Amino acid sequence: MIKEIFKLFLFTSIFSLSAFALPDWSRDTEIHSPRENLYDLSPEEFHQTVMKGRKAAFIYPVSVSELMIPFEPLKTFFDTKPSDPVRALLYELAKVVSPFESMDEVFDWLGLHDFPLTPQAETPNAFPELSIHEKAFPMGTTLRETSEGTALTFGCAACHTSDLFGVKVLGLTNRFPRANEFFRQGAAIAPYVNSFIFRDVLNATEGERLILVKAKKQLKYVGIKKPSAVGLDTSLAQVALSLAKRKEDAYATRTILSHKFPRRNKLEKMVADSKPAVWWNLKYKNRWLSDGSIVSGNPVHTNFLWNEIGRGTDLIELEKWMNESQETINALTAAVFASRPPRYEKFFGVHSIDINRAKRGEKHFIQSCQKCHGTYEKGWSLPNASKLSATELIQNIKVTYHTKTPVKNVGTDPGRYLGMKEFAHDLNRLAISKAIGTVVEPQTGYVPPPLDGIWSRWPYFHNNSIPNLCALLTPGKKRPVTYIAGPAINKATDFDHECVGYPLGTAVPQEWKKDKEYVFDSRKEGLSNKGHDERIFIKEGKEIYTKAQKLELIEFLKTL
Ligand code: HEC
Ligand code: HEC
Repeated sequence: MIKEIFKLFLFTSIFSLSAFALPDWSRDTEIHSPRENLYDLSPEEFHQTVMKGRKAAFIYPVSVSELMIPFEPLKTFFDTKPSDPVRALLYELAKVVSPFESMDEVFDWLGLHDFPLTPQAETPNAFPELSIHEKAFPMGTTLRETSEGTALTFGCAACHTSDLFGVKVLGLTNRFPRANEFFRQGAAIAPYVNSFIFRDVLNATEGERLILVKAKKQLKYVGIKKPSAVGLDTSLAQVALSLAKRKEDAYATRTILSHKFPRRNKLEKMVADSKPAVWWNLKYKNRWLSDGSIVSGNPVHTNFLWNEIGRGTDLIELEKWMNESQETINALTAAVFASRPPRYEKFFGVHSIDINRAKRGEKHFIQSCQKCHGTYEKGWSLPNASKLSATELIQNIKVTYHTKTPVKNVGTDPGRYLGMKEFAHDLNRLAISKAIGTVVEPQTGYVPPPLDGIWSRWPYFHNNSIPNLCALLTPGKKRPVTYIAGPAINKATDFDHECVGYPLGTAVPQEWKKDKEYVFDSRKEGLSNKGHDERIFIKEGKEIYTKAQKLELIEFLKTL
């Protein structure tokens, strides 16, 4: 018994100690990456904390979030036939037509994926324990039981989980997130929906009506923008345009005047779209976002702030929630930093990688790429390599990234980094930004991302403009002007194994050609596919690698 108490004492004291061992989030603090175990927890505690954090990624924890949707009536609405008089009446009232015949179709359209039914060996970030109830709806949806009824909202996983050939990967970019579109459609319809008619026609309760009333009010403080291509996200614009609908004081107070007469912001028009970034790069960095413009503060704190500004939330309430929820925020932070990338050989078998070719590719990488993207020591370089299995040979033994995260301008589309200038001041002046130490400094260029797991996150660049690695290693002028995006379902048809990424030309699955929305057009504003060629693999106007050498380099990249 005494032993048990002693153990408990030891456990709790370790826990409280570690709770104080907070990382230094200040600007340009040198880091010795990878900071995979950010809070220096014991293995057991680390595991528990990470699992708790992953749970918060799935079940959105922000209880002060006001933009929620009454779930049961919504379900009733979509699950009745489009010809049903009730639905017809609501369409008439809302002056819309909806193609959806069920809630499942809505979730599909939202780009959300179901939870795996069985454990998946290929997934790098094991799923936390969730109840059957919590897993009943797709990853990223959160149903919250409130005193007014069941409300639907979306969590981090909506944009930060993906389906990779049937394997659900937390921390990988959702290929087709439509969260922005959801807000857009909601905001377009909301003014027409009378809450009393809504209640009576859909048999909703008075509580559910009140959830709707709240959501309608919230939406007035949400500024929305359609992404320029499916797969891209306009969170940046949403934050800027939402702030523009609030007062310029320390808590961005919401008033009728402030939403009726929003301040003008260039992001209404200019394109600064980007894709949700992968989570496993965080452990190497000390600046956040694709352009490294968030130079201090815990990036997870910042994400909560951005998410909630984009939902029109009261920032005094949010600050209170943050103060009370340190443990949840720290757990999610631990989980994000602990994320790992999926491994190529686990998906395609170890013999799908030609080790000798990859070793030749390593030389090109060292020569042309590592100064920006970091060094990757491979199993095959170990003194005992001759005794290692093929799988062991291709592992990363040690990844070394810069102690200060660099930002480089390699001539890729400037829209995203320029966009930051348009609201940096609006964010920095907020009391809550100051409290959590978030500072935005607009940059000129982008962070060269660490490349582990690079094979799994096609299409490439912050704006998805490059369909595969062959295209990436082609001079800008000769890259495919358009390509067709599609899901990663069938390993044989949906992925180009030699070029790593989307199949092009005649190899594009017929199925993908049906919907024009999936055509990525690099000629549009913000979607340029230029840059990252001169002084990288083009020297004095000439390409330095032959086609065969580029394939060697790609073979090496598969092993990262
Ligand atoms: C609507 C989609 C969406 C949701 C929801 C979302 N994110 Fe993101 N996230 C993005 C996008 C887009 C970016 C990349 C923006 C950029 O840098 O250009 C991003 C970037 C990030 C980054 C920075 C990555 C880096 O390399 O610096 C982190 C960390 C992150 N998100 C965590 C979260 C967390 C935690 C949540 C939940 C609180 C969340 N995100 C919710 C879309 C989303
Ligand atoms: C001068 C620094 C620099 C060098 C050298 C460099 N890169 Fe990059 N790389 C970048 C930057 C910056 C980006 C981000 C560009 C963007 O998203 O707009 C990038 C992006 C990438 C991406 C896409 C990452 C993603 O997540 O979409 C890949 C792949 C890549 N580089 C591979 C290479 C290879 C292979 C080499 C060597 C032939 C190389 N890079 C050399 C700076 C560099």
